[in-house]
Amino acid sequence: MNETLASARLMAPAISMRGVNLSLGRGAARVHILKDIDLDIGVGEAVGVTGPSGSGKSTALMVMAGLERPDGGRVSVTGQDIGALDEDALARFRGRHVGIVFQSFHLIPTMTAVENVAVPLELAGNRDAFARAAEELAAVGLGGRLTHYPAELSGGEQQRVALARALAPDPAIVLADEPTGNLDEATGRQIVELLFAVRARRRMTLVLVTHDSSLAARCDRVVHLRSGRVELLPAQVAS
Ligand SMILES: Nc1ncnc2c1ncn2[C@@H]1O[C@H](COP(=O)(O)OP(=O)(O)OP(=O)(O)O)[C@@H](O)[C@H]1O
Ligand SMILES: [Mg+2]
Repeated sequence: MNETLASARLMAPAISMRGVNLSLGRGAARVHILKDIDLDIGVGEAVGVTGPSGSGKSTALMVMAGLERPDGGRVSVTGQDIGALDEDALARFRGRHVGIVFQSFHLIPTMTAVENVAVPLELAGNRDAFARAAEELAAVGLGGRLTHYPAELSGGEQQRVALARALAPDPAIVLADEPTGNLDEATGRQIVELLFAVRARRRMTLVLVTHDSSLAARCDRVVHLRSGRVELLPAQVAS
């Protein structure tokens, strides 16, 4: 990469969406989900994404992760136009730069906690994958649960494994979709504290989808979606 391009990337937002449109489904069931989304998320910024059920929050996150390709518009992550990458390059790019946490944990049930964290690291070429995975699990308080299977862990513990898996490659960006949605309030709070503590320590960019307005308010900025569009909040319209 030449120096101009390298410095342009340093200046680039962590995530940039320009004129993003996405429809999913076939025939009469086709739904226009994301409509003309323009959004920049700065490096190190924490952005809460709120909005009614069905407003497109999860879909927007999938587009940022490159797990859904928009029909129109452009998505750049750390300065890379991800639409220009083929599936293999995109998977490698995601593995290096983006960690994802889902509401329903998405752990592999036939793998132990440490395997769930280590296997993606191994696939990414990390030679100390198991040692690294054990460290990450210890950091979320699960050093004593390495060989437990997901079914042998509580919901909060499973989400901590998922968090360790997302954070293990030391991604610049973490995307979290209702990470506390399946947890009771106290357990959810622990996960949130962990997430914000790691974010402060590693200066990651965080995009956090949540129904919880007090949780969203802990972020630097809140983006509200309504029917697939970014809706300006009254305070933003006034300023
Ligand atoms: N594969 C698909 N095919 C057709 N429509 C879809 C598909 N995936 C999502 N949708 C529709 O897109 C809209 C947005 O869905 P999305 O999951 O992004 O909403 P959300 O804001 O995350 O909602 P929630 O708060 O309930 O999680 C919904 O109306 C949903 O039914
Ligand atoms: Mg959702």
